[in-house]
Amino acid sequence: MSVKVTFLGHAAVLLQGSKSVIIDPFFTNNPQTTYPWQQAPQIDLVLVTHDHFDHVGQAVELAKRDGATLVAIHELATSPAVADQARVTAVGMNIGGTYRHQGVAISMTPAVHSASRGSPAGFVVELDGQRIYHAGDTAVFSDMALIPKLFGKLDVALLPIGGHYVMDAKQAALAAKLLKSKLTIPIHYNTWPVIAADPQEFVRLCRPQKAQILRPGESINLDSN
Ligand code: NI
Ligand code: MN
Repeated sequence: MSVKVTFLGHAAVLLQGSKSVIIDPFFTNNPQTTYPWQQAPQIDLVLVTHDHFDHVGQAVELAKRDGATLVAIHELATSPAVADQARVTAVGMNIGGTYRHQGVAISMTPAVHSASRGSPAGFVVELDGQRIYHAGDTAVFSDMALIPKLFGKLDVALLPIGGHYVMDAKQAALAAKLLKSKLTIPIHYNTWPVIAADPQEFVRLCRPQKAQILRPGESINLDSN
């Protein structure tokens, strides 16, 4: 079974295997994507790392459309904007926990950032034997080294590199070294001038670890063999 990972611009990522998982689906007024999200494939799980607009995006609309389960930190999942919506099943969890749903394991990891409702977070998603880490918005922190120890070898790490609100390329390359993922993909850069970054520089700084740039809309396939 392979898992298709599609970068949808900014911090939005779609994982498609036996289930479809979308993370931080920000499309409306996202200058980096023209993704026709209304035509997105059926989604089973919508994960939101924190309550900033560029991460919540169309999470509620997508969850409503598909009757998908929305997973976020407790205070965001129970906030009226999410919890009072018909056809949205919101699951609140917290850092250190793992939620299992239809064969998908979602673990919530820390993020060094801010949020209005609850703490900011990242996710490790285990889908069809592939382990994908989405860091959310974060600075680098040494406990990133614990993530593969706790949850197992990472196949993909999606790391913000845009600076200003999150890690810059240099800090994110250090994060990649702590995480030791088989592959690292830069996200959360060049959406606006304030988070301008050179992803090629990031790829260089990650060496000898493998990093790959995906353009918005571009996919890679993860195969178990
Ligand atoms: Ni943020
Ligand atoms: Mn952000």
